[in-house]
Amino acid sequence: MTALLVLSPDLLVDRRECSVQVIAIMNYKGGVGKTTLTANLGADVASRGHKVLLIDLDPQANLTFSFYGVDQWREELSKDATIMRWYEGEMPGREVELQDLIVTPPRVNAELEESGGRLDLISSHLKLIDIDLRLAARLGAGTTLGESKRKFLDLHGCLARALRHEEFERYDLVLIDCAPNFGLVTKTAIVASDHVLVPARPDYLSTLGIQYLASNCDELVAEYNDYVNHGAAKNDSDRAIRTRYLGVVFTMVKFHAKKPIGAQRYYMEDVRLNSDILPLNGMIRDSPRYFGDAGEGGVPAVLRAPVTDDVVVEFRKLTTEILDSVGTGAAR
Ligand SMILES: Nc1ncnc2c1ncn2[C@@H]1O[C@H](COP(=O)(O)OP(=O)(O)OP(=O)(O)O)[C@@H](O)[C@H]1O
Ligand SMILES: [Mg+2]
Repeated sequence: MTALLVLSPDLLVDRRECSVQVIAIMNYKGGVGKTTLTANLGADVASRGHKVLLIDLDPQANLTFSFYGVDQWREELSKDATIMRWYEGEMPGREVELQDLIVTPPRVNAELEESGGRLDLISSHLKLIDIDLRLAARLGAGTTLGESKRKFLDLHGCLARALRHEEFERYDLVLIDCAPNFGLVTKTAIVASDHVLVPARPDYLSTLGIQYLASNCDELVAEYNDYVNHGAAKNDSDRAIRTRYLGVVFTMVKFHAKKPIGAQRYYMEDVRLNSDILPLNGMIRDSPRYFGDAGEGGVPAVLRAPVTDDVVVEFRKLTTEILDSVGTGAAR
């Protein structure tokens, strides 16, 4: 078993030249806590005095609505300042620069003021729902199979290229909240990321796809690196990638006598023994009180709950574990 995607030694080239670390938060399974983890992890890191950018790539836009009310989003962001504007052009990024879509959600940043940290967002749009189909139709039309494949691989690298812009060097961490699928937009997130973090509920259906996800990610990375390393890349700035699995974070864990309940421990152990993506030590307990109303307050639970609450104590440990593993030096 390995915690690294499969790569041949000649491909061990760092994708990024700047130090900002990018984490994709993904799982095929819906409702496992991806968005809740993204919002709270981002807020916790920012509360340590760091600059964090969240990117919402899910058409459900739940991450966006964790920081903006629907009316505010509609009035201030929906027309010009969502990721949809970036993906919908002839080729993503051709008509608008990614950095021009960054917004600073006011409520959470008011909470962060004393810490010196900052939490920025590139918001999503409900209409992103059919972007995969529209991109595929555009890229596949009227070309040979080989040329079509190269176009798709070029597209897979679009977010990585955009994040290499110097504007993003001011961030310590970029977190990408993915939709529960492995479509084109999700693939752009994987190619753009240094790390993949997989939230999962410790139950049968949520853990079922983890190994499948790992092999699909391996395949994507190998294919992309093959494309870049054999001179087929359309863009000179494309680089081989070295995406690493950070691990599985168990979410909505139910505790009894300070331990996860037996039924959940069974699935946690199953992932530990049988998956290429290993569980992290930290986990997030089931807390409908603090996490059940995600999206309503504009301020994630980790900044709202009392600092002595189990939820916050555990979450802070998890954040430290993730930052240590990522190696941003941000784990203070
Ligand atoms: N630790 C937790 N305790 C209790 N409820 C939680 C917890 N984490 C998330 N939830 C709730 O579970 C639901 C699903 O969470 P979330 O939206 O974060 O999952 P998701 O994986 O992003 O879903 P989707 O695949 O639809 O994007 C939400 O209503 C959220 O408030
Ligand atoms: Mg979500």
